[in-house]
Amino acid sequence: MPRPNGRPGSEPLHSHDIFGGSQLYLDTASAEQCKQWESNLAEAYQALQARGLNLDITRGKPSSEQLSLSDALDGILNNNYRAADGTDTRNYGGLDGLPEARQLGSLLMDVPAEAVLVGGNSSLTLMFQAALVAYYFGYAGAESAWQNHGTVKFICPVPGYDRHFTVTETFGIEMVTVPMTATGPDMDAVESLVKSDPAIRGMWNVPRFSNPTGVVYSDETVKRIAALGKVAHPSFRVFWDNAYAVHQLTDDAPALANIYDYCRELGTEDSVLQFASTSKITHAGAGVAFMAASPKNLAAFKKMLSASTIGPDKENQLRHCKFIPDGAALKALMDKHAALLKPRFETVLSKLEEAFADSDLGSWEKPQGGYFVSFDARPGCAHEIVRLAAEAGVKLTPAGATFPYGKDPENRNIRIAPSVPTVNEIATAMDVFVVCVKLASVRKKLGK
Ligand SMILES: Cc1ncc(COP(=O)(O)O)c(C=O)c1O
Repeated sequence: MPRPNGRPGSEPLHSHDIFGGSQLYLDTASAEQCKQWESNLAEAYQALQARGLNLDITRGKPSSEQLSLSDALDGILNNNYRAADGTDTRNYGGLDGLPEARQLGSLLMDVPAEAVLVGGNSSLTLMFQAALVAYYFGYAGAESAWQNHGTVKFICPVPGYDRHFTVTETFGIEMVTVPMTATGPDMDAVESLVKSDPAIRGMWNVPRFSNPTGVVYSDETVKRIAALGKVAHPSFRVFWDNAYAVHQLTDDAPALANIYDYCRELGTEDSVLQFASTSKITHAGAGVAFMAASPKNLAAFKKMLSASTIGPDKENQLRHCKFIPDGAALKALMDKHAALLKPRFETVLSKLEEAFADSDLGSWEKPQGGYFVSFDARPGCAHEIVRLAAEAGVKLTPAGATFPYGKDPENRNIRIAPSVPTVNEIATAMDVFVVCVKLASVRKKLGK
């Protein structure tokens, strides 16, 4: 029979039949039952290994098909390098960014254009630089620099984005974890830390379609984070990384409350630094990044920036503004991304549902946007699941990667990134994943 997409090893498996159905409750299973399951699963696993698969669901990046949606960027200037205000974008200067590019940032972050600074191709770089300013130079003069005040700690909702944790680790900042819930970080824990520990100087956030859980912070969570500036140390800064601000899979995906508006109401504008980029809108390696901040924060940031550059790549800013001239163009482009991503997410979620809905083997959120599905296995199983999957030809993000210092204390979280493989490849990879979760869980229960 021809393979569905002509690629080797991409036809789905039906491993869940091993249990005569999908029910699997380890907490109540007898030792005898577990031994039988283990033997069936080991057999299924060996059959999978024999297929010589080579699949990868680790990469949180756009597929080539998605990148191609923005290929019109190339050549769009057609030798016209002038911005709307006459700026020759080929030349030096323009530390704030072109006015129309600040407008694009304003569209993404729902803040006034005057609050936006346009950077280079990476919001992560802006976040690193924002931490650099806070750590060495201070947003309110040299005395306010974090380095002057002993131990510096950051609140890290977990599971979270590994590169955020690498930024704080690079500065020697101590990371204090709080659990992510379905409505955002556990705010009781966050508030209690901020009130009780003056060494807390910052907090990471991915507020819409969080990396990796996919949750959208509730209005109440956003409001409570905006209010932290009232009780925190004056040099405390919320890092609000809105990387997936417009990356919904469906039109009815939950909206995110506007933290800028709440901060304005509460007088806490200085406590929040916002970030976004077009990395997962246009070309991930050649996009445009944005930061939004209060006038005081922007002034301090630009002082650092002007010592390190004469200005950003304004040609690319102009290309992006021509390619995405308004909200309607942005929506149309994001709808095309969603059309490519949605079936991939649906495949992951339906495989998880089919295998684990009626079990005590794991839990997960159902993201309505973003790039990830986060799976919590039974405690102590994540490393073994990832190892088993790798040996069956399916590469998963290393267990622990979603926690500071790469250490998941419960060894249970696994991040699944379905954007790059085809739907058939994802289906096969998920079938392998399911067998590995079951096998690792049963073996753990048996003490193997
Ligand atoms: C939450 C989050 N922030 C930032 C980034 C990177 O953004 P950029 O390409 O703008 O540096 C990613 C990429 O995966 C991400 O998941």
